[in-house]
Amino acid sequence: MRVALLGSGRGSNADAVLRAQKEGRLGKAVVAGIYCDIPTAPMLKLGPIYGVPAHYLDPGPFKTKFSPEREAAWAQTLIDDQIDLVVLAGFMRVLKSPLLHPFAGRIINLHPTLLPLFPGLDGIGQTWRAGSAEGGCTVHWVTEAVDEGGHLGQARVPRTADDTLETFAQKIHQAEHQLLPKVIAELAEKLPAR
Ligand code: GAR
Repeated sequence: MRVALLGSGRGSNADAVLRAQKEGRLGKAVVAGIYCDIPTAPMLKLGPIYGVPAHYLDPGPFKTKFSPEREAAWAQTLIDDQIDLVVLAGFMRVLKSPLLHPFAGRIINLHPTLLPLFPGLDGIGQTWRAGSAEGGCTVHWVTEAVDEGGHLGQARVPRTADDTLETFAQKIHQAEHQLLPKVIAELAEKLPAR
């Protein structure tokens, strides 16, 4: 199962997935490429470190969505690279039909809350400010409705009395780094070849 990692920033989850692959914990999944919508994204540096092609692709002029033409170009690149599963690992752009249609049932997203709680931006901050006794993370299928597709896995993180927003966020990120590679390895067992 050829996996594309799409991201916009730091890339700690992409790093966790690539580390899992290196350590033989990604099952039949192989990371075929890293694809970023920000030319300066630190995530791009993972390419040479792990020997995986890493590309900046122009998303068009908008901040939180693609232009339809550029979204179709991204889809064509992923098709040309024979991608079976698209993984949104900190990708901060909403997908629409030019990508969703050719990859229907083949796109997953990582979100830093216990969905359906706190969808959208700054999920950890939302959880913290709501005073929730726990936070967590979710991997789910991507559909037209943002953060609403069926869940593939969740991890819970209790908020302790001595937590600050920073320590709470750190624990959630650690949970993400475990959950995402595990879900990808599980999917590699069941996703049919294209
Ligand atoms: C992760 O916490 C991920 O859950 C979140 O962005 C972060 C990316 O971190 N994604 C979203 O909020 C998507 N709505 P990373 O670049 O270090 O992997």
